[in-house]
Amino acid sequence: MDDDSTANRIELHLRSLVRAASTGQRLPSTRSLVEQFSVSAITVQRAVQRLVQEGLVITRPGTGNFVAARRAMSRPDFSWQTTTLGPSRNNPSAISAAMTQTTPGIIPLHSGYPSEDLLPIALVRSALARASRGAAVTDRPAMEGLPELRAWFASEVAASPGSPGAAPSADDVIIVPGSQSALASIFRALAQPGDSIVMESPTYWGAIAAARQAGLVIVPIARGAGAPSADALDAALVTSGARLFYAQPNFANPTGAIWSRAESDAILGVIRSRDAFVIEDDWAHDFGIDEVARPLVAHDADGHVVYIRSLTKSLSSAVRVGAIIARGPALARIQVDRTVTDLYVSGTLQAAALEVMTSPGWRAHARRLQSALRERRDTLARAVVAELGAETLTALPRGGINLWLRFDDRVDVADLARRSLAAGVAIAPGTDWFPTEPPGAYARLNYSGPRPDRFGEAIHILAELLGR
Ligand SMILES: Cc1ncc(COP(=O)(O)O)c(C=O)c1O
Repeated sequence: MDDDSTANRIELHLRSLVRAASTGQRLPSTRSLVEQFSVSAITVQRAVQRLVQEGLVITRPGTGNFVAARRAMSRPDFSWQTTTLGPSRNNPSAISAAMTQTTPGIIPLHSGYPSEDLLPIALVRSALARASRGAAVTDRPAMEGLPELRAWFASEVAASPGSPGAAPSADDVIIVPGSQSALASIFRALAQPGDSIVMESPTYWGAIAAARQAGLVIVPIARGAGAPSADALDAALVTSGARLFYAQPNFANPTGAIWSRAESDAILGVIRSRDAFVIEDDWAHDFGIDEVARPLVAHDADGHVVYIRSLTKSLSSAVRVGAIIARGPALARIQVDRTVTDLYVSGTLQAAALEVMTSPGWRAHARRLQSALRERRDTLARAVVAELGAETLTALPRGGINLWLRFDDRVDVADLARRSLAAGVAIAPGTDWFPTEPPGAYARLNYSGPRPDRFGEAIHILAELLGR
């Protein structure tokens, strides 16, 4: 039995003692719990600490652990707020289960964040240390961001295959604290409440939530193995009057699909002919496995593509730095929204992000990351095919960090997710990625988060729950 499950057992034992005891009563000493459960003092202290944090136990160093005074139950009356606040554009279910923090011991296939071994942690630590010693720690950066970082984001697009004259310049770049806030700003700045926005379905739950929060009406178009059809996009723009199309051309979350060059050209053609914008979310730019990401914005000189890229998942969840690339009046509107919302992004984080991305170590890291992702993807996919059947795996993604599964339509995925969590495996029900009713029973499994040596065990648990 591992330390986590023993700490859980000790915690349960102490809880039952606290329930039965009166205030001030002494609890068993750490030493006696060490003997009783045959564990280290650290494991015991971890269990005790959880109860201390909840205010149930107080520790007196050198004396022991005691039952804390029970706080009087507090029941303030918030009911007036229900009437005062009235209808809500968003509700708690707008936040996907993918954002849930699981307890240690659970295999986290649900979340969308790479584990530590896939991040350039040594580079990030030294870049943060250096940034904290330099001028970035006191100087207020420009609202648009550090000029060198803006130039780096622009140069990344310029390095992709593109059309002549289409490469953006540093002046087209706004630095943002991650792409979620970029989405919220773009939707607010380029549309009015009540306007429509076209989205691929399925698509990123956070874009769905941001659009709803901005008061937009989502018009979904189905996305198959590649891009949605250009004709379906054209019809959706015409019938709804939408001027915005949110899309993930590269390694989409959740399907992992990538648009071909021909599909991208056809979609850009429709966008241009309807005087519309495509909001290109290049969230998985650094997670190519069999292909590299090909940003659409590299083919756009006239400001039809509003491009977003974030470094959160590539560097560390602590480095909330990303960029928007836009041109013309759209750029000006987005900049005003960014400034009204956040004024500027921490200069320390920007300086650290720039240092990591331009260091020789980053290239070496990117190569290691690509092969580690390939190995993780293939290991999880093999387990899915062996235990759940080849038909469950919708496709083997050519990049990104997720597998998108489809079960028999009779499977209640929310119930499956609850039961699998109880059995020690967290999965994300697919429902969160559909702006309207899901057309089947889907789930998303992230292969970048958990340890790959637990993939087999996790999929075996799912197979048992599905009765296979
Ligand atoms: C498609 C997509 N866009 C945007 C985001 C938001 O990313 P961040 O705000 O961390 O940059 C995510 C996060 O999971 C995502 O999957």
